[in-house]
Amino acid sequence: MPGNDRFASRLLAWQRRHGRHALPWQQRRTAYRVWLSEIMLQQTQVATVIPYYRRFLARFPDVNALAAAPLDEVLHLWSGLGYYARARHLHRAAQHICEQHGGIFPADFQQLAQLPGIGRSTAGAILVLAAGQRHPILDGNVKRVLTRFHALAGWPGHRAVEQRLWELAERHTPHKNVADYTQAIMDLGATLCTRRRPRCHECPVARDCRAHALGREADFPEPRPRKLLPVRRTRMLLLTCEGKVLLQRRPPTGIWGGLWGFPELPPDRELHAWCRQHLQVQPLAACHWPVLRHSFSHFHLDIEPLQAEVSAAPGVSDNDDRIWYDLRAPRRLGLAAPVTELLKVLQTSLGGGVDGAHGQMRLAG
Ligand code: ADE
Repeated sequence: MPGNDRFASRLLAWQRRHGRHALPWQQRRTAYRVWLSEIMLQQTQVATVIPYYRRFLARFPDVNALAAAPLDEVLHLWSGLGYYARARHLHRAAQHICEQHGGIFPADFQQLAQLPGIGRSTAGAILVLAAGQRHPILDGNVKRVLTRFHALAGWPGHRAVEQRLWELAERHTPHKNVADYTQAIMDLGATLCTRRRPRCHECPVARDCRAHALGREADFPEPRPRKLLPVRRTRMLLLTCEGKVLLQRRPPTGIWGGLWGFPELPPDRELHAWCRQHLQVQPLAACHWPVLRHSFSHFHLDIEPLQAEVSAAPGVSDNDDRIWYDLRAPRRLGLAAPVTELLKVLQTSLGGGVDGAHGQMRLAG
């Protein structure tokens, strides 16, 4: 392996001149602020995260404020970022830190790594960036840099490959300036050593990079072995009544856990019978909207929206798990992305024709 001192020192020199120094979480680094940024950045790009991060911090300036908030409000501020388990874990971890650690972030790696949503790399990043401890990190960007630098074959999701990457990450991590080095390798992955069209001519470690020497940057990291994603279908009921639509809270676990969505009609149920049984209402003629595809990492969800106006008496009172959502004066709720999309169509249809609004929806292929 090329000297790791050289790898780290070149990255550090590059970081001083070309790295990112003005990101919001780089200012007034506390464990809380770094933690929040690391969780938001887990599957999301910096530019998307910044406005969410600012809003979140303005509302929850410290771990106590976050722990004391209702989950609904946390999910609301997360709406649109996706991967909502991150928000639920964040909330639970905040409560754990308040209850078990008196609101002080554990500075111990093992304790930190046991908190919900904090894995080995995130625990390392928090302790490196907020406390200057020495730990390797291995997020998506770092994996890309290291697989290319070492021309490491195999999909990084395979245990053996990941283990090798941890070893390499550990060996490259310097004993001094760890926080700057960590920021440097993340920045290199995000700005130069990008997935598509890496800018190797600007890279400080290109002369020792094995993938570059082979002209095979595009071959690393190897992609996940191809597997056709299964398709699931669901029917969502858009039951409207005088400018309102029925929403219900989803169970706390599973996809979109704890978010609000439309009631779903099981495959074997008929609309009128279901409405009579669950809502004691009679829907008027139902209208099938085009199928909307929402893709998760492990399956596609094809949503068949079924819109029906229900007779005047709704037969359900607002309670914890069901509400009539006023389309003209929407409440602030945590909503799954396709639900937001369908609500927009409904809102448009209140003001104009539903047909026109349909044209904007993504149709399932
Ligand atoms: N991605 C993950 N952590 C990051 C950080 N601290 N700065 C920029 N991008 C990141």
